[in-house]
Amino acid sequence: MYLATLNVSHFRNIALADLALSPGINLLVGENGAGKTALLEAIHLLARGRSFRTPQTRQLIRHGEKELLVRGEVASSAMSHKLARSKSSTGVNEARIDGQSVNRQSRYAELLPLQTLLPGIGDLVLDGPAIRREFVDWGLFHVEQSYLATAQRFRKALTQRAAWLKESPTEDFSMDPWVATLAAAGAEISSWRHRFVVALNAQVQQTLVRMRADFSCDLRYHGSGFSEEEALEQLAASFERDKRYATTHVGPHRADVDIRVDGISARAVVSRGQAKLIASAIALGYSAELAARSGAKPVVLLDDFGAELDESHRERFFAELRSLGCQVIATTTDQPEHLVGLSSLDTTRVFHVEHGSVTQNS
Ligand SMILES: Nc1ncnc2c1ncn2[C@@H]1O[C@H](COP(=O)(O)OP(=O)(O)OP(=O)(O)O)[C@@H](O)[C@H]1O
Ligand SMILES: [Mg+2]
Repeated sequence: MYLATLNVSHFRNIALADLALSPGINLLVGENGAGKTALLEAIHLLARGRSFRTPQTRQLIRHGEKELLVRGEVASSAMSHKLARSKSSTGVNEARIDGQSVNRQSRYAELLPLQTLLPGIGDLVLDGPAIRREFVDWGLFHVEQSYLATAQRFRKALTQRAAWLKESPTEDFSMDPWVATLAAAGAEISSWRHRFVVALNAQVQQTLVRMRADFSCDLRYHGSGFSEEEALEQLAASFERDKRYATTHVGPHRADVDIRVDGISARAVVSRGQAKLIASAIALGYSAELAARSGAKPVVLLDDFGAELDESHRERFFAELRSLGCQVIATTTDQPEHLVGLSSLDTTRVFHVEHGSVTQNS
């Protein structure tokens, strides 16, 4: 499945743009402020109903206009579907598939799954654990039907326990009314996450080999009990501390995915360019894992990917994207050959973006 056409009107600085996209690699080339990221944002809006830059849709509507419209045709050898979204300045949103109003977001995600690699992708390696937990959870929401319900059950018990710890803590751990739910749901979450990270790690290893990376990288989920008994033991050990601070200190909400490079914690040693490369390999491994489970390859959106990476790493990364067989839509301010390499130029579709207008290289 790939995005065959994209029609954008009144979106940011773009008055009107029509693109016939390649199922392979597409480059949006232009100067700063030309409208390249805006085009990726329009694709994101089509697939997910929102921008990746702002939660305020009104900012997306071109100044002086009343409504934006994004349309796209997704195609595979077996079928094609027309997706459309419009947003008006008065707050009216419309979403259509093949002309029919469809509000179920999951249908858009099925028809146009996306993997976005934005300039801040390196934060996945460099930031605190929350971003990595979220990343793993996002994958699990897609592949495990009951994950969301379990995660919600856990969250609710966590909140209720915090209120209880504040007001009426008992001296006796066995009288704590929330630990049974926390241990059961927590152990389920932990073992799902653990299995997902094991599978993801295998995909990342393969990706790094294909990218001929000059370092090894290992991902491991750690930090909470994998069985109910283990989770209960941890909660019991933390009971006094939990009462003192009226919060639960142990469990999957505090866990992390440990990323090690050549055996050392990545956060402590990698450069910004390496962090970007590692995070991108993880994101590609993640796409490969989701594709293996759901059968759908995502469309990969790369914003300003070349920045911070040297030429040989950029080229190898694009070679890997090519071998994954995903459609790629990437922005660059640079010459196209500097991003994808001369040998790939023939098979890359290049669009020039200038002051909100788009033309295709002939
Ligand atoms: N609602 C809007 N209406 C009109 N123009 C807008 C609106 N919102 C943003 N812009 C302008 O649209 C332009 C497109 O910005 P965009 O981020 O897409 O540029 P870009 O090509 O990605 O540049 P860079 O290479 O710097 O990342 C900017 O000049 C911005 O000021
Ligand atoms: Mg940009």
